[in-house]
Amino acid sequence: MSKSYKIAVIPGDGTGPEVVAEGIKVLNAVSKRFGFQTDLTYFDFGGDRYLKTAEVLPANAAEELQKFDAIFLGAIGHPDVKPGILEKGILLKLRFELDQYINLRPVKLYPGVECPLKDKKPDDIDFVVVRENTEGLYAGAGGTLKKGTKDEVAIQESINTRKGVERCVRYAFEYCRKRNKAKKLTLCGKTNVLTYAFDLWERTFYEVAKEYPDVKADYAHVDAITMWFVKNPEWFDVIVTDNMFGDIITDLGAMIQGGMGIAAGGNINPQGVSMFEPIGGSAPKYRGKNVINPLAAICAGGMMLEYLGEDAAGKAIEKAVMEVTGKHIRSLAAGQMGMSTSEVGDLVAKLSATA
Ligand code: IPM
Ligand code: MN
Repeated sequence: MSKSYKIAVIPGDGTGPEVVAEGIKVLNAVSKRFGFQTDLTYFDFGGDRYLKTAEVLPANAAEELQKFDAIFLGAIGHPDVKPGILEKGILLKLRFELDQYINLRPVKLYPGVECPLKDKKPDDIDFVVVRENTEGLYAGAGGTLKKGTKDEVAIQESINTRKGVERCVRYAFEYCRKRNKAKKLTLCGKTNVLTYAFDLWERTFYEVAKEYPDVKADYAHVDAITMWFVKNPEWFDVIVTDNMFGDIITDLGAMIQGGMGIAAGGNINPQGVSMFEPIGGSAPKYRGKNVINPLAAICAGGMMLEYLGEDAAGKAIEKAVMEVTGKHIRSLAAGQMGMSTSEVGDLVAKLSATA
């Protein structure tokens, strides 16, 4: 009997369901070719469900999701719901409760994709950001005093634990070694100002580095990193950083790889269940129009397969995506692809299902 993977699918809000449908189409196409099966279970978490039931996420959601081999997520965010409720109540809650302590975000310029950086080619932009995903400023520590008065105080603390930092740094070293490219791991921090948090990060980083003599350990301040992403993206191989800096630099990363239409990420718990998503958000204004670019979701599906051990299938998806960006679609932007959402999905499915 062929291998079967239990996958939880959360299409979510806005264009999430449309791009997830194309991602699943491609999964089905490669599963036939590479001889495995997917057993899909859909969950309706998202803004529409919240507006109907007033419940953001069922109390047993994380427990239910633990039973799967992986989670495939579309997008969370609804124009009729106050910002923060769904993002914190669904996306961040699942990341935390499932202890997905790594947010893995490849930044890769595919052939034919228009890059906003002058003279940069696919060879120049190919790195991966390993973002810590459960601590830092996202931990929710802090509070307010005298809210709404002139004496109001707001405190938001960055929580960094030795355990949390070390497991993230270790994952990054392992990942960099396996990736086997330039074998250079850059810690992105702010040791000149955040002298408590990044002192812990820096000490941990160089301690763990001793166990990886084959990987070059490098350091850069976060502000300098944003300059170099624009000026010299070819300097980077793997970057490891905290939750907040990782959030910011990966949006910049998405832009230099051609935009949100192509940027995928994985929320990873190496010992548990991981969740893969296009990082672009729910784009509600394009909902239901069949114009949104599904490639980011398709790439997230490919990452999920590689994570599940179906390397060849993941690679076939990437190859097909490269062919589509290189030869078939005009632009990555919604409505400007020269093809519809479902046509792009059909084409990637066809290309990845054939050698
Ligand atoms: C991301 C998103 C989330 C984050 C939001 C939606 C909570 O921006 O995945 O990068 O800040 O992590
Ligand atoms: Mn973000």
